[in-house]
Amino acid sequence: MTGNNVHLIDHPLVQHKLSIMRDKKTTVQEFRNLVEEVAMLMGYEVFRDMQTEEVEIDTPLEKMKTKMLAGKKVCLVPILRAGTGFLDGLLNLIPSARVGHIGLYRDPDTLVPVEYYLKMPEDLPNRLVVVVDPMLATGNSAIAAVERLKDLDATDIKFMCLLAAPEGIAAFQDAHPDVPVYTAAIDRELNDHGYILPGLGDAGDRIFGTK
Ligand code: URA
Repeated sequence: MTGNNVHLIDHPLVQHKLSIMRDKKTTVQEFRNLVEEVAMLMGYEVFRDMQTEEVEIDTPLEKMKTKMLAGKKVCLVPILRAGTGFLDGLLNLIPSARVGHIGLYRDPDTLVPVEYYLKMPEDLPNRLVVVVDPMLATGNSAIAAVERLKDLDATDIKFMCLLAAPEGIAAFQDAHPDVPVYTAAIDRELNDHGYILPGLGDAGDRIFGTK
């Protein structure tokens, strides 16, 4: 935790894999596998405060009381398109999670995020909603996505990314101080095109091989 509701996941395995992802020589296939692995490792922290309940089971030898997940169900919300890179890793951890999608593009004139796609499960208010996008750059998309989810009465929301820019964290926390941010690194700054420095490039292009 770095204070201000930001959780920096600095586990050595996450840092090692992230360094490989940053390297421009890393192939699309390697990058994609690493996103999935890092999503799983980060998920371990993102879901740390999930409630458990005591249940009784039969081992092959005797009855025992043990713990299983209780309470709130989960909805994962990738911001299209790069956010979908996190899905497989997180669904490995919580196979029963629902998945809502939100698509936003930046209007070239106003620079305001415009929604072009939204599909959410109906029972959003009863779920822990984890919004995922690998890069928290300006923060505009993440802020707009969380605003939209709050309009749909989601109350328990977390935001998870791989890399964050200080500018993005500040803007996001200003807009949504109640929503914790989980990130594997906070980089130096944004460049004039809104890319994170030193960063890893365009996350969508690196996951999908579109450049
Ligand atoms: N989106 C990306 O994919 N990369 C950045 O550096 C910033 C936003």
